[in-house]
Amino acid sequence: MSKSDCIVFRDAAVRRGERIIWQHGTFSIPSGSVTAIVGTNGTGKTTMMKAELGLLPLAAGTLTVLGKPAGSMNHQIGYVPQSYASDIDSNLTAEQSVLLGLTGTRFGIHMITKAQRAKAREAMEFTGIADKAKYRLSELSGGLRQRVAIAQALACDPKLLMLDEPLANLDLASQRSTVHVLAKLNQELGMTIQVVAHDLNMLLPILTGAVYLLDGHPHYADMGKVLDSDLLTHLYGTQVQVVTTPQGDMFVTPTPDEPRNQTQDMHSADEVAQMHHHVHASTSSDR
Ligand SMILES: Nc1ncnc2c1ncn2[C@@H]1O[C@H](COP(=O)(O)OP(=O)(O)O)[C@@H](O)[C@H]1O
Ligand SMILES: [Mg+2]
Repeated sequence: MSKSDCIVFRDAAVRRGERIIWQHGTFSIPSGSVTAIVGTNGTGKTTMMKAELGLLPLAAGTLTVLGKPAGSMNHQIGYVPQSYASDIDSNLTAEQSVLLGLTGTRFGIHMITKAQRAKAREAMEFTGIADKAKYRLSELSGGLRQRVAIAQALACDPKLLMLDEPLANLDLASQRSTVHVLAKLNQELGMTIQVVAHDLNMLLPILTGAVYLLDGHPHYADMGKVLDSDLLTHLYGTQVQVVTTPQGDMFVTPTPDEPRNQTQDMHSADEVAQMHHHVHASTSSDR
């Protein structure tokens, strides 16, 4: 294990009930990286985050997070669970929700310190919702609620931020601003970020790598390798192609969504690997 590794899996396996969800996971996620966890529904992406938080025991192997066994460094991890932005009590104000990230319980809300309030304020400023502090969540759009959820996860000054499908159910503009916040956290604060995502399109400009769940095994690959057409096709169980537009941008497009001329501007995975253009992708499969 290298000091620069944030998360290290060694022959790790997880079971839920009687069933092994995935196994033989051996890979390392570097500190300072932005990594997607990809895979079709039910392959164990949420399960992976829960294992990293020590909430699910491993059935085999080891899992180290921030240098310690999974679960022991959770005070340095910010976690935004799947669907959290829509599940959270919408009678709370944005500020109260963010303070939950510090107090852990809404009953502590009237006993918060000045320092905690300042910390919450800082987190809200970072995600661009400081002016919404006194609004109830029920008054905020899905995109703003997502930013409240991220601010809550940031309140503990995490070294590692984990978000489970933060872009699901957001409109395009809100997806963009969420990605912008993640980019800023990574670039300005050096935070390691891990994101479960179905659609890599939005995240590609900031991704350094991806963990992909395939055939019951997790694998890690740097971004260049993830953009391999064969891998994406296998991963999504549907034909996925890496396409270059006349502007030089690349798209990864499931064939059914691509009504235009299929043969034009297409490149083999090898050719793509040699290109260094700004990258986009669209791999929406199970939505
Ligand atoms: N609480 C649970 N008990 C037993 N099996 C579960 C539980 N939660 C999820 N599973 C199973 O574990 C598998 C992986 O689930 P999950 O990690 O939520 O997948 P993903 O996030 O990739 O959609 C699924 O097949 C699911 O049915
Ligand atoms: Mg999930």
